[in-house]
Amino acid sequence: KPLKIAVIPGDGIGVEVMPYGVRCLQAVGKVFDIQFEFEEFDFASVDYYEKHGDMMPKDWKEKLSNFDALYFGAVGMPDRVPDEVTLWGSLLKFRREFDQYVNLRPCRLLNGVASPLANRKPGDIDFWVVRENTEGEYSSIGGKVFEGTERETVMQETVMTRIGVDRVLKYAFELAQSRDRKKLTSATKSNGISITMPWWDSRVVEMSKKFPDVAVDKYHIDILTAHFVQRPDIFDVVVATNLFGDILSDLGPACTGTIGIAPSANINPNGTFPSLFEPVHGSAPDIAGKGIANPVGMIWAGQMLLGHFGHKKAADALLKAIEDVLGRSEPHILTADMGGKGDTKSLGEAIEKEILAL
Ligand code: NAI
Ligand code: MG
Repeated sequence: KPLKIAVIPGDGIGVEVMPYGVRCLQAVGKVFDIQFEFEEFDFASVDYYEKHGDMMPKDWKEKLSNFDALYFGAVGMPDRVPDEVTLWGSLLKFRREFDQYVNLRPCRLLNGVASPLANRKPGDIDFWVVRENTEGEYSSIGGKVFEGTERETVMQETVMTRIGVDRVLKYAFELAQSRDRKKLTSATKSNGISITMPWWDSRVVEMSKKFPDVAVDKYHIDILTAHFVQRPDIFDVVVATNLFGDILSDLGPACTGTIGIAPSANINPNGTFPSLFEPVHGSAPDIAGKGIANPVGMIWAGQMLLGHFGHKKAADALLKAIEDVLGRSEPHILTADMGGKGDTKSLGEAIEKEILAL
C-alpha cells in the first residue's frame, strides 16, 4: 500500500527546496521498493492568502486527513502578510487540529559539517529532543488586571494533564528503548517551579517502571542547556515540556551545524491524524528566489518520515547518502551556508544521485 504524502511547499525557499525533498524520497523508494503517492497543495502560502483572503480553504481538514503524512516546506513572508496570520492560519492549525503532540528533532553531528562547538567530531553528538507539543507553559489561561496602573498584574498558567504528559513520556521512553544506549534524560526545574515540575518528575518515575531497561536521569533546565554545549556526548533521548523543549530543540540542532540542515517532525504517534515533517528553517525571504538555499533540512525531514513509517533501512541509507555527499566537502556542490559555491540544485541532485547509486 503506497504511502500517501501531502506536499505543501508554502513560501519562499520552501518552494525551492521541496522538489529535492520529493526527488530524494522517490529515489529511495525506487531503491528500496517503497511506493509513494504525492499530491501537492498550493494553500498554506502567502500567494494563496492574497488570492483568497485566508491561508487555507475551509475544508482543509477533510482534504488532508486521509494522508499518511504532510511534507511541509516553510511558511511566511512578513513583508506581505504578518507572521502571526500566516503561522496561526496554517502550521499551528496542523499541529493542533491533527493532535501532533510530539515534536521530535535529531541532534546529530554529520560528517562534513563543522560544529560550532570546539573539538567535536561526527559520532560525538547523536541524540534526540522530544518536546511536548500541545500543553504545558503554552496555555491561554491567564489575564491582565489594573492595566496601565501601578498595580498592573499579568499572569499565565501552566497546564499539565496526566494524559498529555504520560503520552509524550511514553513516546520518549519507547524511542530510548529502541536505541543502543537506552538512556533518557528529563528536563526539569523542580527546584524553582514547585508544583508542576515536581509532578512532571513523578510522572517520569512512574513511566520508567514500565521501561526497566531504560536508564533515566534528569537535569534542571539551566544546567541542561550548559551540558548541551559542553557535554553533548552524554545524551541519547532528552524529553521536555513545551517551553523547555522549544528552547532545547533549537539549541540542540544549533550545536550540530547550520539551520539549513536541521529537520523536525510533529508527530501524532497513534496515527489518528497525519504527522508533519518539515525543515527547522523558515522561508528565508533574504535569500528566496536565488536558488541558493540548502536543501538538506528538507531532505533530512523526508528521512525522518521514512523512519516514522518503519522503513529503517531506507532511512539509514538516505542519511548515509546525505553524510557521504557532505563528507566529500566538494565546494562546487555545497551551498554557501556550508562554505561552498554550489546551489540548491547542485546539492539536491548530488544527494539524489548518491541514493540512486546504492
Ligand atoms: P529563517 O529560518 O527563514 O531564516 C533565518 C536565516 O537563516 C536567514 O538568514 C536565512 O537566509 C538563513 N537560512 C534559513 N534556511 C536556510 C537554508 N535552507 N539555506 C541557507 N540559509 C538558510 O527564519 P526567519 O528569517 O526568522 O523567518 C523568515 C520567515 O519564515 C518568517 O515569516 C517566519 O515566520 C517564517 N518561519 C517559518 C517557519 C516554518 O514554516 N516552520 C519556521 C521559522 C520561521
Ligand atoms: Mg522555536
